Amino acid sequence: MNRVLKGDIVYSRSKTSLQSCKDGYLVIEEGRCRGVFEKLPEKYQKIPLEDYTGHLIIPGLVDIHLHAPQYTFRSLGMDLELLEWLNTHTFPQESRYQDLEYAKKAYGMFAEDMRRSGTTRAVIFATIHPEATELLMDLMEESGICSYVGKVNMDRNSPDILCESSANESLRATRQWLENTKDRYQRTKPILTPRFIPSCSDELMRGIGQLAREYGLPLQSHLSENKSEIAWVQELCPWSSCYGDAYDKAGAFGGEIKTIMAHCVWCPDEELELMKKRGVFVAHCPESNTNLSSGIAPVRRYLDEGVPTGLGSDVAGGTVLSIFKAMELAVQTSKLRWRLSDSSLKPLTVPEVFYMATAGGGAFFGKVGSFEDGFEADALVLDESRVPTPLFAELSLEERLERMIYLGCEQDIIHKYVAGCQLF
Ligand code: GUN
Ligand code: FE
Repeated sequence: MNRVLKGDIVYSRSKTSLQSCKDGYLVIEEGRCRGVFEKLPEKYQKIPLEDYTGHLIIPGLVDIHLHAPQYTFRSLGMDLELLEWLNTHTFPQESRYQDLEYAKKAYGMFAEDMRRSGTTRAVIFATIHPEATELLMDLMEESGICSYVGKVNMDRNSPDILCESSANESLRATRQWLENTKDRYQRTKPILTPRFIPSCSDELMRGIGQLAREYGLPLQSHLSENKSEIAWVQELCPWSSCYGDAYDKAGAFGGEIKTIMAHCVWCPDEELELMKKRGVFVAHCPESNTNLSSGIAPVRRYLDEGVPTGLGSDVAGGTVLSIFKAMELAVQTSKLRWRLSDSSLKPLTVPEVFYMATAGGGAFFGKVGSFEDGFEADALVLDESRVPTPLFAELSLEERLERMIYLGCEQDIIHKYVAGCQLF
């Protein structure tokens, strides 16, 4: 459907610069932007106009790393570090998705909150359970959001209640899940999801790399999040030169396989070079990295060196779905890193985190996350009246966006569009 949105439009054109247009027109034809105009060109004047004068219009937000089954226990166990937290909270909770009644209830709550959130695109971990993963895909499709959803693979170092019996069995179940969901959805796509090196045998990881090539599928996993995890990977894969190399030697690290690695807090130089060579995306998850005391990723370096980088909520390492919150924390944690541990990497700026939250993560989906000609039309219309200020009339659009990044929440999103379709 074609439509024109009128309002105060702000979007990213590059990592460092915001583009804004007061009382502008965003033209959408067949789900794609035709551009932002100060005056509506003659040829678009017959398209129905939706008038949001006085409201901010920004691209939809992109969450490139979160765990749907973990939505239930957000904020519990945040006194633990990664490996203890996984064993104490995460694995027992994820094992419950064997029960489809439970999965329906829990994933129903998750999908409804995702629909209401500022997120228009998401890259999601499910669990090892194929049926519950299909259910999650059905619910995400109904939500109207575009997403990648992955059935998780785990065949070692996991409790019996959450461990597939062998590499072969894990690969068989994954193929079955891919066949069952083939051509079933418009907005929902599968993504291969080996949990991380410690829970996947070498044989399984190699099999997943092959599957990715055979089906032309993308892949997501975790990388260099926590120091104990990294030491464990070195023990498990003594033949690898770094954590990333353990994926790479299995043929499961970027290149022809579009890949997201979450966290990348402690990547050594060699790993970073490999990521650049293979075009691996980084999912920066500042809330999770803080909650689990993992550390602060050197995101300034990733941006400067051209590593594709987006933001992730990493629920339930993160407690909230809000990518507004992720932007705020990305700036704040980068300041702490700069002040306390490494003055060579300057703090992130608002335009930079806004870029990561929109076009940066959006690039994983194609032309997504901007309002330039040809981009898929994902947009949010914001109401700033919940946070009044007598200064309002004096603020630039960039300052109004900055206010919403720090002060905005779900309530302030009054309309949401994904690929040109209005969700609310
Ligand atoms: N590494 C392996 N599994 C997980 C998980 O569920 N959450 C986080 N934050 N890191 C992981
Ligand atoms: Fe994660």
